[in-house]
Amino acid sequence: MAGADAVWTSESELLVRGTSFRLAPQRRFASSDELFCVVKPPDLVARYMDMVDELSPARIVELGILQGGSTALLALLADPEKLVAFELSPTRIEPLDRMLAAHGLTDVVVPCYGVDQADAATMRTVLDREFGDAPLDLVIDDASHEVEPTEASFNVLFPRLRPGGLYIIEDWAWAHVAFGAHRPGHEPLTTFVFEALATLPQPRGLVEDIHVDRHWAVIRRAAGEVDPAGGAYDVRRICHDRGRDLVVYLRDRAGAER
Ligand SMILES: C[S@@+](CC[C@H](N)C(=O)[O-])C[C@H]1O[C@@H](n2cnc3c(N)ncnc32)[C@H](O)[C@@H]1O
Repeated sequence: MAGADAVWTSESELLVRGTSFRLAPQRRFASSDELFCVVKPPDLVARYMDMVDELSPARIVELGILQGGSTALLALLADPEKLVAFELSPTRIEPLDRMLAAHGLTDVVVPCYGVDQADAATMRTVLDREFGDAPLDLVIDDASHEVEPTEASFNVLFPRLRPGGLYIIEDWAWAHVAFGAHRPGHEPLTTFVFEALATLPQPRGLVEDIHVDRHWAVIRRAAGEVDPAGGAYDVRRICHDRGRDLVVYLRDRAGAER
């Protein structure tokens, strides 16, 4: 049980197998050996614990390492066979390296720095090397929160999930809260959620269901092959004419109202 290893030492601090985490969605800080920074609120971390208990994910991909807190926490909670994490910044998070070494996890957790989530070729090379043909159980995208890079990595990673596997998009709602005001000119990530929704009735969409709340959108992989004819998976293409028209309409309307 993931939660069984975790002790809440305050409303926003957790101790998991001897490693301390502060859940600091607003006040980021540099992680140290003594305390890791996790950019998530406590109620979302509690949801992650429940999800890990239910899914028992063995093969995990995370997008967005930042200070290494979420990567370290996930490794300790899920005890995976393999966790590969991608981060745009080239700067290694040394406390994460030391924590992984201390827990004997250096072969299990593979942080990949300097990789853009939109760089499909590099991601595929790393995924093939680390997972081979084995399907993924869980993907967490907490990286750019921009529509096009989010789509690009979804197209690479979603088809690699096993049926029943989960693809989590964090903070999809940033445009609809105060933070959205800091990103005028950036397309709301809501567009991506609409696109994924519009693929639901399409057999090639490979989406079983989608659960959305204020923190995340959880997209469950259905059974089925990507494309028996061998075409690449492309969420925007699959969402059908009406789905595409709707997304274009919403984009145009948002642009007109700015
Ligand atoms: C919200 S933070 C991640 C927080 C971390 N998952 C946690 O919960 O503590 C987002 C991270 O994504 C990274 N990022 C931004 N754009 C990216 C991109 N295109 N590809 C990969 N990583 C990106 C940022 O550098 C940043 O470290």
